[in-house]
Amino acid sequence: MKIAFIGIGNVGFTLANNLQKLGYEIIIGNNNNNSKSVQKALEHNPNFKVTDIQSSVYLSDIIFLATPYAANESVLKNVDFYGKTLIDCTNPIKMGKKGIEHGLNSEKSGSEVVQELAKSAKIVKAFSIYGYENFIDSSFPKFNIKPVMLICGNFDEAKAQASKMIADLGFFPKDTGDLSQALHLEHMTLLWVKMVRVHGHHPNFVWAYLER
Ligand SMILES: NC(=O)c1ccc[n+]([C@@H]2O[C@H](COP(=O)([O-])OP(=O)(O)OC[C@H]3O[C@@H](n4cnc5c(N)ncnc54)[C@H](OP(=O)(O)O)[C@@H]3O)[C@@H](O)[C@H]2O)c1
Repeated sequence: MKIAFIGIGNVGFTLANNLQKLGYEIIIGNNNNNSKSVQKALEHNPNFKVTDIQSSVYLSDIIFLATPYAANESVLKNVDFYGKTLIDCTNPIKMGKKGIEHGLNSEKSGSEVVQELAKSAKIVKAFSIYGYENFIDSSFPKFNIKPVMLICGNFDEAKAQASKMIADLGFFPKDTGDLSQALHLEHMTLLWVKMVRVHGHHPNFVWAYLER
């Protein structure tokens, strides 16, 4: 299976590197020939292929979006996704009076805006509720349970594709519903980010789904 990554920084590289080791083919999509993150990614994993964003989408089965949220409009503009699954890892975050806040004032989720910008894609929000530290290694050997990866989206087949990759990467995939749930996932992100980056909790803490 071929996976395109638009954005190959902390999140993109970590996920792409682990997926490549699992046998997925990785194609980085970037329109900047001098991209530092692309050069760094290739130094660490020479198995990645690189092309422009539109070609990476054309050549792949599934696409990851792992860019700064503010870049999404320019990144997604004029890209045809051919109805393919686009996994949105991005989070709208801003610095407000009380520190880190939701970047769209909690009025709408970032993923719903991504869906508006990428109308020809099937958006799944995933890999957004933790810091990338937990994408490097998802194993928690002392516990007989996997970290949960909460996802949402409007397309069942796209969520099934994302769930397969999530399970391959060692997480327990849990579908939380349609794309409007993304706003709540983005607030979970804010909670995790404030706990870890502001209040000093350990970055390798994750959420679990326990159901009686
Ligand atoms: N960091 C985390 O722990 C974490 C966890 C979950 C979700 N997220 C979310 O995931 C996203 C990525 O975070 P990150 O920490 O991985 O960011 P990062 O390390 O800064 O990487 C950003 C990537 O996006 C690329 N990019 C930036 N502007 C672009 C543009 N206009 N066109 C194409 N590519 C562009 C960068 O390429 P260049 O080098 O060429 O600029 C780089 O590869 C963010 O939305 C963040 O909120 C972050």
